[in-house]
Amino acid sequence: MAKNLRVVLKEAEAKRVAVGHFNISDLVALKAIFEAAREISVPVMIGTSEGEGDFVGRKQAAALVRVLREEFDYPIFLNSDHTKSFEKVKEAVAAGYDEILFDGSKLTFEENVKKTKEVVEYVKSVNPEILVEGEVGYIGSASEVREELPEGAAIKPEDLTTPEEAKQFVYETGVDMLAPAVGNLHGMFANMPDPNLDIARIRAIKDAVKLPLVLHGGSGNTDEDFRMAIQAGVVVVHINTEIRLAWRKGLEAGLSSNPKEVAPYKIFPLAFEGVKGVVLKRLKLFNKLDASLV
Ligand code: G3H
Ligand code: ZN
Repeated sequence: MAKNLRVVLKEAEAKRVAVGHFNISDLVALKAIFEAAREISVPVMIGTSEGEGDFVGRKQAAALVRVLREEFDYPIFLNSDHTKSFEKVKEAVAAGYDEILFDGSKLTFEENVKKTKEVVEYVKSVNPEILVEGEVGYIGSASEVREELPEGAAIKPEDLTTPEEAKQFVYETGVDMLAPAVGNLHGMFANMPDPNLDIARIRAIKDAVKLPLVLHGGSGNTDEDFRMAIQAGVVVVHINTEIRLAWRKGLEAGLSSNPKEVAPYKIFPLAFEGVKGVVLKRLKLFNKLDASLV
């Protein structure tokens, strides 16, 4: 039987590698992500945000991931990403998600602690095997290509998560995993890399909480920042905008190279290849399998 998520995270932590987490809105992306992971035999996480989960259907997403896990005896897991309402938490738990990220990062610290604690208590009362992640520090909400910083996102040192806050949050809520604001941002810039991550802060937070740290907003960060962040204690890296962009470019190419085609399965392969290429590159880097390190 495939290992559970807790074990997979422990193993990644011990090897100082990270599990790649990729969001989906459709079967094309799911298939591409799964094939990329299988090609190099590494565990992988699939995420659905509230919007993505509403579109795909939570039961449907859970069924698709479960079928892949069972048919191929493969460590593939599903996370209810950036879940902001208790109602969606309940839906994801009932559907059979492996992880719930409760996102209270826009609330005050006290409210965030209170709500996250309620979510942990609820989830564990239904199924203690489901992992709960909490988020401290706002990093912008949309996975989009943009020209400027999202309003209110933590990027100045005084807005980033401190080790003390992280420790208190983890202690009071009982979360299994933590997503801090360490200079990371959701989305990516059209013509430049994301700002550098605060690696020393990642290390200090890791020392303070001793839990798996999750790096959100991975699109647009440099390879070197990823390597250092993983070395400092990041165990899961989230990528969304880069695959959305690859999906769209592939779809446009598929449509323009077959102007009369109406069979979706003849149009989608370029979107599939585009997403798979991005995922493969990121998974190799996160798992220390990229050429520059071999
Ligand atoms: O939870 C999703 C991620 O944090 C995605 O961020 O769109 O910047 O890759 P990204
Ligand atoms: Zn995120």
